[in-house]
Amino acid sequence: MINGRNIRIRATEDSDNEFLTELLNDLEIAYYEGRNDFPYSNFSQHEWFSKNHKDGQKERMIIEDKNNQTRYGYITFKRIDEVSRRAHIAIKLGKASRGKGIAVDAVKSLMSFLFFIQNYNRLEGHIAEYNIPSQKLFIDKCNWEVEGKAKDALFMHNEFHSLLWVSCLRKDYLTKEVDTFYLDPKNLY
Ligand SMILES: CC(C)(COP(=O)(O)OP(=O)(O)OC[C@H]1O[C@@H](n2cnc3c(N)ncnc32)[C@H](O)[C@@H]1OP(=O)(O)O)[C@@H](O)C(=O)NCCC(=O)NCCS
Repeated sequence: MINGRNIRIRATEDSDNEFLTELLNDLEIAYYEGRNDFPYSNFSQHEWFSKNHKDGQKERMIIEDKNNQTRYGYITFKRIDEVSRRAHIAIKLGKASRGKGIAVDAVKSLMSFLFFIQNYNRLEGHIAEYNIPSQKLFIDKCNWEVEGKAKDALFMHNEFHSLLWVSCLRKDYLTKEVDTFYLDPKNLY
């Protein structure tokens, strides 16, 4: 369990599959994530989860309320290069949980866990150029920066869009983060 200020991050359980199917089938979330998938069934989600929940490459976790365990969303961590200590993270929240600081709390808690407990050095991700909420979250609030742009890399809503390559290094997190709660690894437990 990784504790944030008001949330906690825990492993995904079989009982989370319906919640995850709802998030997957939400067309607004799919648009922001740059997914063009067909609808998912609870059955296919359950089968997929049984096969992939521990594939060694990715950790798939639920964000929930620290006190009453209300589920807010889903956050993933993917190992990219274990020697160079590089990883990819991504997040999505249900509509009712947005705009309340939950994503900032979850991303910073996971960043602190990965930098200070797991010894990662570089976290990275890709954000559609039209995804302003995600850019605000990672760049304005969580100390990430844009490293480059993959032009017309994503086809969505009958148009090509660019993808931003974003990252945060441990040394930059340490110098830029002003909320000392996230700089003390003891707060994560
Ligand atoms: C990206 C996402 C997780 C952000 O969640 P959130 O609940 O808005 O995040 P927070 O409440 O912690 O807010 C972070 C900042 O984002 C900004 N923000 C949130 N929604 C916004 C919107 N619709 N437009 C502009 N800015 C927005 C706010 O500036 C906020 O800062 P503030 O505290 O100063 O107001 C959420 O919008 C989401 O799940 N989107 C769909 C999936 C997705 O895009 N995932 C990321 C793929 S790269």
